[in-house]
Order: sequence, then C-alpha cells, then structure tokens
Amino acid sequence: MASLEGKKILLGVTGGIAAYKAADLCRQLTRKGCLVRVVMTRGATEFVSPLTFQALSGNPVHTELLDSDAEAGMGHIELAKWPDLILIAPATANIISLYAHGQASDLLTTLLLATQSKVAIAPAMNQAMWRHPITQLNIAKLRDSLAGTCEIWGPGEGAQACGDTGPGRLLEPEELAHRVVEFFDNKNLQQNKKTDLTGTRVVITAGPTREAIDPVRYISNHSSGKMGYALAAAFSASGAEVVLVSGPVDISAPMGVRCIQVTSACEMLSVAEEAVSDGCDIFVAAAAVADYRVETVASSKMKKKGDSDLVLKLCQNPDIVASIAAKPDKPFVVGFAAETNDLLAYAKAKMEKKNLDMIIANDVSKKGIGFNSDRNAVHVLCREQMVELPEQSKAALSQKIVEIIAARASQVAPGKSV
Ligand code: C5P
Repeated sequence: MASLEGKKILLGVTGGIAAYKAADLCRQLTRKGCLVRVVMTRGATEFVSPLTFQALSGNPVHTELLDSDAEAGMGHIELAKWPDLILIAPATANIISLYAHGQASDLLTTLLLATQSKVAIAPAMNQAMWRHPITQLNIAKLRDSLAGTCEIWGPGEGAQACGDTGPGRLLEPEELAHRVVEFFDNKNLQQNKKTDLTGTRVVITAGPTREAIDPVRYISNHSSGKMGYALAAAFSASGAEVVLVSGPVDISAPMGVRCIQVTSACEMLSVAEEAVSDGCDIFVAAAAVADYRVETVASSKMKKKGDSDLVLKLCQNPDIVASIAAKPDKPFVVGFAAETNDLLAYAKAKMEKKNLDMIIANDVSKKGIGFNSDRNAVHVLCREQMVELPEQSKAALSQKIVEIIAARASQVAPGKSV
C-alpha cells in the first residue's frame, strides 16, 4: 500500500447527518500522513463544529468565501491550488447540483470551479433524493463532463438515518480512506510507468451482466468490476487509448478511460464488437458474463400464479471473448478463468477452446482475494509460458499484467501498434 505521507487533501464537508463520519475520515487521513485542510459549508457547521475538524486536521477550518482574516491566511485561489485531491465527503444532493451547474455561491463551490486538482465526490443523502432523476442527471453530467477529473465514490446501500433503506449512504470512513490510497497508488503507477503503450487501442469488458426476466427483475452475479477497472486504469496509465465496456457496477471509470455502460450480455457483445471494429490492438475480457439469459423476457411484471412453481427457460448467451477471438483480423485477445479447482488445467483448456492468446487464471476458492475484493493473485498463461503473480492489490497486479500483455502482444503481432 502506498504511503500517503505529505499528500495534500482538501476535505470538503457539506451539510448532511453523515458529516460526523467525516471527522473519523479526517483522523484516518492525517494518521496515514496526509496534510488535511477542511472546508465546511454553512450547513455542515450545523452538524459538526469546525473546532472538531480544526483539532483533527491541525489546521484552521475554512468556512467563508468573503472572510478577510481567512483570505489573509490562505486566499481561496491559493487554497484551490493547494491540494493533490479534493474529497467532498459527505456530498449532499445540493453540492452535487451546484457543482454540476458550475455555481460558485460559497467557498466550497468556488474552490471546485477554481481548482485544477482531481476531485472525488462521496454522495450521502436519502435514498429517494439519490434516486431522483435530477440527482442522477447531475451525477451523469459530472461523470461525462468531468471524466478524467472527477470521480464518484459510492454511495453505499443500507439503512439510513431517516429510517429508509436503499442507496445513498456515505461510504464508511475506512473505505473512503482506502479509495484515497488507491487514488494515489494509481497516480504513482502513472508516474512510474515502464511500458509505453501510446498509440495502442485497448478494449476491456468488465463487471457483471444483467439478464432481464421482466421489466423489474433480472439474473446477475456478484462481480464488482474491480479487476477490469484496475486493468483499464493501468492500460491508460501506460498511454493506451482505452474503451471500457462495463456492466452495472458501483465504481467510477478510471480517469482518462472512455466507459460505455451496458446491461445484458447481448448488449455487451454488440458494443464490444463495435469498439473492436473501430480499431483495437488488445482485447481483454474481464467481465463476468452471464452464461444464460431468459429465453422470453416478459413485457410486463410477472405475477405470482397461485401456489405453482415458476419455470424459466434459459438459453445460452453468446461468448463475447470467443466471438472476438474468431474474427479474421482479431486483436491480441486475453481472457480470464475463475476456477475453484484444477485451475491451470481448466484455464489452459479454456484458452485453447476460445482461441485466446493469453488467459489470466485466478483461484476463486481462496478467501479474501478475487471476486469483489481489492486484492488478487493470478497465473498468467499463454501457449508456451506461465507467470505466477502473488497476492497484491488489483492496481499493482494490473500494472504487471499490462507489462506481460504488452511484451507478449508485441511478439505475437510485431506489426501492430503494441
Ligand atoms: O467460460 P467462462 O465463462 O469461464 O470464460 C471466462 C472468460 O470468458 C472471461 O474472460 C469472460 O469475460 C469471457 N466470457 C465472455 N462471454 C461469455 C462468457 C465468458 O466473454 N458469454
């Protein structure tokens, strides 16, 4: 895990009940060696006293835009230039809306407009406010207009202070502190990049797929998308042009990566095929694609029929990676094999059956790594070679995988831009 020693974090605290959790976050960041300056909105000061953050951060807390004393200490433009990362936690629906609309109505919104630093937003609000189409539009606007600059961290799901249950909970302070570590890990990877993939076009599938049963129900799996997203970040850090074709996940696309959201396997196939036909040197299939879909999707919500059981007829989904690998002018194709036993034998057989150039095998029976975890351990296999990569963060692992893919792809297809 990278050290956060000396990293400058501007923690923006806005007015929600979760503001008290920001105090713990502030403490965790300073303990990790970060220099933290806190900016509070007026609403936030109703929930927690600025004095709390002053004591925890060891710095005066900034609350007003037009405060001559504060401006004499560190003016708002100077403050906007200071951080390596601005983290807004908790971020209310209001600050998200103000940011999405370019408002500069108080100190925090002014800093967001004036800064050139990266920004991470950790939303926290009632589930209905989070689900509200306007909030979702604002989030989409931030993701699209500020891709590469702004990331959305969370929200989590569960019981809320108001008694509701659903999405909108602030991620826990440990998780947010972990995201900060990951953010700087990725930044370090970009700075220390060894492999130069400038001019190389990479398409990656990631996350689960959802197969509709009717308009409100679906079949899916627990894939978090973390491995595919970490690979996208590592390829992008190496200079590659990356298109990420992603099923529904809770994480933001890495900065600088073009992310196309899809839902079902059939949709993932057609978007992936289109992305590959636009030009692709390396294709990585990290998605946990549902093997089956419901043959006939009901057009309206299915009703319970007395006491009788329900039988759904499932039909096979297309195999995305095999379809790409079957193309005449195929890119260098990498697949994943998640197995619980006979890992290497099954992975090798899958590589041959699907005509892959390389397969990354991970043992999903091991606790604490792989599925849904931030860590993983894998074997990278190609026809004549096998490399074992021991347990490490998915960010570090991805960088090594990218180096191996780049080296192998340039041997296999020396004419291509890898
Ligand atoms: O056959 P299995 O699902 O174990 O193969 C895993 C590999 O195949 C992964 O790389 C996965 O992304 C890919 N795959 C796919 N389309 C499917 C099923 C799997 O691209 N329908």
